[in-house]
Amino acid sequence: MVNLEYSYFQRKVLDLTGIDLSSYKSEQMRRRLGTIMARSGAHNLFEYYRLLSRDKARLQEFRDFVTINVSEFFRIPDKFDYLRTHVLPGLMADRRKLRVWSAGCSNGSEPYSLAIVLTELAPFGQWQILATDIDATVLERARAGIYQPADLVNVKSGLLKQFFVATGNQFQAADRIRNRVQFKTHDLLRDEYEKDFDLIVCRHVVIYFTEPAKEEIFRKFNDSLRPGGVLFIGGTEVMKNPSELGYSSISVSFYRKVGAPPPSN
Ligand SMILES: C[S@@+](CC[C@H](N)C(=O)[O-])C[C@H]1O[C@@H](n2cnc3c(N)ncnc32)[C@H](O)[C@@H]1O
Repeated sequence: MVNLEYSYFQRKVLDLTGIDLSSYKSEQMRRRLGTIMARSGAHNLFEYYRLLSRDKARLQEFRDFVTINVSEFFRIPDKFDYLRTHVLPGLMADRRKLRVWSAGCSNGSEPYSLAIVLTELAPFGQWQILATDIDATVLERARAGIYQPADLVNVKSGLLKQFFVATGNQFQAADRIRNRVQFKTHDLLRDEYEKDFDLIVCRHVVIYFTEPAKEEIFRKFNDSLRPGGVLFIGGTEVMKNPSELGYSSISVSFYRKVGAPPPSN
């Protein structure tokens, strides 16, 4: 796949879908594109683009391919344990009302896991979760909140009983957690970021982005956090220069925005 072909494809895909491939790691993207293109029968990216522009189903397949929305409840459970025992109690002590953002939330497993932890810690507490993703189709699934047993392997049986309703051999997230999460489409590379969050969770998302794109996102998250607020990222998404971006490192995957929190509201 030559550079010219890839630049042409990037430009055309941006016009057609709004997805900015230039911020995704190029080598990884090209390798994966080669596979999906070959599967479609196209011989090069010019042909593949023509196919995408004519065929809605192919275009949806391409979106699914770019967005990789694999997720599960309590993904890497020890990180959620750390969040529950070391991060949230401090944040909750500081704030009467907690604002949480799950960015790149995929099928909802992540924000609903957060809702479960927050309900356990503060069943009547004031907290709200915004959950966003670039992919409107996966957000529809997230809103419906219906999961296969494989998505729930990390959910302890007591929690399964409390927070899910069995429907045949699937499970639906109960209203008490579904009502706490607001889902919205949002592109981390293009859209405005909301402000005043106490916790931003963005895991297994920036791993697909180039270093400059990733750094820009961390900067914008910093701007969106209240002083003392926490960013929770994936284990392999290490921030190279936290202090330059306005954070101090708390533990692997957890970074605090530098600056004292304002008085509780
Ligand atoms: C591998 S999933 C991670 C889901 C969840 N955070 C987790 O850790 O299980 C990556 C998600 O990032 C979303 N994503 C990819 N590019 C994005 C972008 N530019 N803006 C917002 N979300 C994006 C994808 O649609 C996908 O749902």
